[in-house]
Amino acid sequence: MKTIFSGIQPSGTLTLGNYLGAMKHFVDLQEENNCYFCIVDQHAITVPQDRLKLRENIRSLAALYLAVGIDPNKSVLFIQSEVPAHAQLGWIMQCVSYIGELERMTQFKDKSEGKEGVSSALLTYPPLMAADILLYGTDIVPVGEDQKQHLELTRDLAERFNKKYNDIFTIPEVRIPKVGARIMSLVEPTKKMSKSDANVKSFISMLDDEKTITKKVKSAVTDSDNEVRYDKEAKPGVSNLLSIYSLCSGESIEDLVDKYSGKGYGEFKTDVAEAVVNTLAPIQERYNELINSEELDEILDMGAEKANRQAFKMLKKAEKAMGLGRKR
Ligand code: TYM
Repeated sequence: MKTIFSGIQPSGTLTLGNYLGAMKHFVDLQEENNCYFCIVDQHAITVPQDRLKLRENIRSLAALYLAVGIDPNKSVLFIQSEVPAHAQLGWIMQCVSYIGELERMTQFKDKSEGKEGVSSALLTYPPLMAADILLYGTDIVPVGEDQKQHLELTRDLAERFNKKYNDIFTIPEVRIPKVGARIMSLVEPTKKMSKSDANVKSFISMLDDEKTITKKVKSAVTDSDNEVRYDKEAKPGVSNLLSIYSLCSGESIEDLVDKYSGKGYGEFKTDVAEAVVNTLAPIQERYNELINSEELDEILDMGAEKANRQAFKMLKKAEKAMGLGRKR
């Protein structure tokens, strides 16, 4: 049995990219592993957040985790800020990381470039992410492609700590899905689909209704040769829709290409939209049952308790290894 950890930021309604690149895979993993899934609210505040909106997003993300099939009897679901060891080990990991390596992170560059008043936490975000993972002795971290660099840094920091202080951290492996690791924007298919995109047409939210989904898929940017074929470089828009369709329907990309050979984009897009709607509708139904329920709070309380117990032990080991406090 392996230990799995992953986290998602409550920084807006999740997109189909978050679902197909990450969440969907969490559900399969929980069957045979020891899983921790986290709502990383302390990561979300590295950029300004509205207090009320953040609280709403935290609850909404918790309900979504459960609605997609995370089972609280199999996995530990919890909120990062309710487990203080994350911030505490985060500080320790900051002390072992170098400014230069943090400045090289593409996500930091993307989020800070040309901006004023960039928080120092945006730079020190990866050591906190490393702490999230290392606290649980994590073997595998399932994420989308965009988190690969952060995972490489996590491994470096863990190895550095183990060598310098004491060999206490498990070196985690990243797991990125073969299809759907990078779902692209529907408007600019060379850019990642992102919940923070200003253009709402560029992403499908997991809570979009049927009409909105259909409209967004139908207006997705493709190309003019009217041929359904998978070619990421030459046909990024169509290839992105094929990935989405394949993941939502369970049919392989090759089978889908055969199915639409000689047919135009109109019929193809109608069917993509239908597959997305069919995937999200049952999730939304369950979400609506959960969002205002007491059950949701009970699950989060139980998750925080279990995560705290585990995380505290590792934090103490790390503090001891570094010589913090009085305990020998
Ligand atoms: P976040 O909240 O941006 O995204 C959550 C997960 O969704 C994946 N993802 C995508 N996958 C495919 N296509 C896309 N367009 C797409 N957009 C997002 C992300 O790769 C991620 O797996 N730093 C992390 C949160 C985090 C974390 C952790 C993850 C904090 N601590 C520890 C793993 C382990 C983040 O910002 O993800």
